[in-house]
Amino acid sequence: MSGRLYGVGVGPGDPELLTLKAARILAEAPVIAWPAPNGGESAARASAAALIPPGREEIALAIPMRPGGEPSEAYDRAAEALAAHLVAGRDAAVLCEGDPLFYGTFIYLAERLAGRFAVTIVPGVSSLSACAAAAGQALARRDAALLVLPATLSDDALEAGLRSADCCVVLKVGRHAPRLSRLLERVGRLDGAILVAHASRKDEIVVPLAEWRGEAPYFSAVLVPDRRAR
Ligand SMILES: C[S@@+](CC[C@H](N)C(=O)[O-])C[C@H]1O[C@@H](n2cnc3c(N)ncnc32)[C@H](O)[C@@H]1O
Repeated sequence: MSGRLYGVGVGPGDPELLTLKAARILAEAPVIAWPAPNGGESAARASAAALIPPGREEIALAIPMRPGGEPSEAYDRAAEALAAHLVAGRDAAVLCEGDPLFYGTFIYLAERLAGRFAVTIVPGVSSLSACAAAAGQALARRDAALLVLPATLSDDALEAGLRSADCCVVLKVGRHAPRLSRLLERVGRLDGAILVAHASRKDEIVVPLAEWRGEAPYFSAVLVPDRRAR
């Protein structure tokens, strides 16, 4: 019988923000895998490190992070590396930063494997919740519509979203921070926007975006509050 594939949300960084279910699956799964972007450190593995039993079979899935289209061949290779264990009857747990289905690499692995193997997804605390908690800032209230925007969008698309939304969270801020500041200023919403980097980690940063200069860390987001609440 084939093994089961688990997509395990490990939260935004603080190891205490893993769920009890995530902890149980990590204790039981014979194979634990994690995306290794550009061969570097895995944020997801760092969050879960204390829960990975010694000697467990681990696979670093080489998935390059680069602007533009999805790295399909890397996803194909990662899916086949997992499939080799699943076919042999071994369950495999993929560690997912935040929540697996919220802009997560796991989406592309599950798309390739769900037709052949049983898949269970364990939701995790997403960066949205962690950034709001760090800033002490409501994500949305009453009848407000919350818009999530990746900072990788074009100027026109970002500006349209920032102009129209009641409240927004901008993800993937990184090198786009200066451009995002300019666009927020143009639509009159820089005042009140908060940059949160490394939410829930020891090196967490919470600062008004207007005070930030230059690029931001990759793990940073900008909260744009509901203007009607200000
Ligand atoms: C590819 S998305 C993955 C989102 C993740 N699956 C989640 O549920 O939050 C990566 C982006 O999420 C945001 N992010 C993830 N963790 C974060 C953290 N601890 N603090 C601030 N932003 C974070 C950043 O905007 C980062 O560029």
